[in-house]
Amino acid sequence: MAYGSFRHFLETLEQAGELTRVADPVDTNLLITEWADREMKSSGGGKALLFEQPVVDGKISKFPVAINTMGSRNRIATALGRESIEEIAQEIQLILKAKPPTDLREGWSLLKQGIHLLHARPKQVKDGPCQEVVHLLDPSTLNSQPSTSVFSLREIPILKCWPNDGGRFITLPNVHTRDPETGARNVGVYRMQVFDERTTAMHWQVHKVGARHGKRYYERNERMPVAVTLGGDPALSFAATAPLPDGLDEILFAGFLRRKSIEMVQCKTIDLEVPANVDFVLEGYVQPGEMRPEGPFGDHTGYYTAVEDYPVFHLTTITHRRDAIYPTTIVGIPPMEDFYIGDAAVRIFLPVFKMNFPELVDMTLPAEGVFHNLVFVSIRKQYPYQAFKVMHGLWGMGQMMFSKYIVVVDEDCDVHNTSDVLFRLCANTDPARDTTVIKNPSDSLDHAPSEQNIGSHMGFDATRKLPGENYHRQWPELLKMTDEAKALVDALQKKTR
Ligand SMILES: Cc1cc2nc3c(=O)[nH]c(=O)nc-3n(C[C@H](O)[C@H](O)[C@H](O)COP(=O)(O)O)c2cc1C
Repeated sequence: MAYGSFRHFLETLEQAGELTRVADPVDTNLLITEWADREMKSSGGGKALLFEQPVVDGKISKFPVAINTMGSRNRIATALGRESIEEIAQEIQLILKAKPPTDLREGWSLLKQGIHLLHARPKQVKDGPCQEVVHLLDPSTLNSQPSTSVFSLREIPILKCWPNDGGRFITLPNVHTRDPETGARNVGVYRMQVFDERTTAMHWQVHKVGARHGKRYYERNERMPVAVTLGGDPALSFAATAPLPDGLDEILFAGFLRRKSIEMVQCKTIDLEVPANVDFVLEGYVQPGEMRPEGPFGDHTGYYTAVEDYPVFHLTTITHRRDAIYPTTIVGIPPMEDFYIGDAAVRIFLPVFKMNFPELVDMTLPAEGVFHNLVFVSIRKQYPYQAFKVMHGLWGMGQMMFSKYIVVVDEDCDVHNTSDVLFRLCANTDPARDTTVIKNPSDSLDHAPSEQNIGSHMGFDATRKLPGENYHRQWPELLKMTDEAKALVDALQKKTR
């Protein structure tokens, strides 16, 4: 199902009993975080929350705040218009099966072609609800008027998430940019710290496509147009967080996910297009070379990330729906909403991983690893050192390069059962023989490496050892009950109950 608006998605969640409305005024300064954190930590991710009267600087905002809207397995599937995420994985599998690719690059390009064939290509439209209300933020008028009389970022109920945060942060922005050389579009979720009423930070980390586009503009010494959208069909927000390869258009991918083209309108003050059905559009630019300290921010690592220089985003215009709703999230000590977003991405792209690693059975990134820190993979092992081959392959694949610990287990271990994986890890490894430590780029937000952006990663081969793997004894048999005994005890227990 394609959602015509973010509101439509929230109504669907409400009808399914997946959304709680909060009618009382609640402060955007810490209190929405505390409420949402409790919800996200409750069983299965709790419910989505709609704060109808968010308070900013003592005043009730006219825009409600929605949070935790994708924070459960059910809700992320609903966000993508499906009964379950596996439906999407199956569709991707079908596209890849139509003409089996020989390698990963061909796989992605086939996926791209397949998506095109599914009529997911974006469509141009003349106008859209996202421009129902237009506020041109002319800096000269702003300076000459009291700031409270002018529409600005102050009107949007942006959260101060954690007590020692450097300010208020837009946490779920879809940041639209273009490569000035190829014209290729990119949409990524990069948080934005509000500096004042019309400037923010732009936190695209060095490895991300937004930063690469930015570098091209800096080299040309040209002002970089940037459009930030909030809300609309959640398929786009998901696509913007997904680790798609550089060049696979998120708007196209979102069209594939929602089974309907995304309609795009031209921005009012910059040469970029944005989805017509979003709630807010922040139009503006990044000036080459201009940097400002950003942070601290209570991050998805569970710690505050330190202050660092990041590019500055200048707003030229804000447009919005008349009935706009502000979508947000919080990150912090896991589990949080972002776990479900990342988990869905792994499940959707499992067929692509399997294409590259035919031995791969299943894979997961447990919540405790906050995405990059921990990966569990199960494989059907055939030859010595195959577990190491899989680890090295994963470390070479896009954002999997950040994986700090990879644990490889045999196919009969359920990677979604952390206890089972830890049992195999402890039982089946001799640390000196079964581990490897490599150097690789690390997540910019990881505070543990001695230097930012570079570090070491560790792989554990917790599979049973084969001849040729330097194991000189008989590998023991794993305990397993007979099916007959199990059936007999099932019957006996039924009688006893
Ligand atoms: C809630 C949330 C917040 C995020 N914040 C940032 C951020 O501030 N900076 C960043 O570089 N990536 C952030 N990410 C991760 C990127 O969105 C993700 O790596 C995405 O694939 C980047 O897109 P790109 O490859 O097109 O650059 C965030 C992800 C989520 C789910």
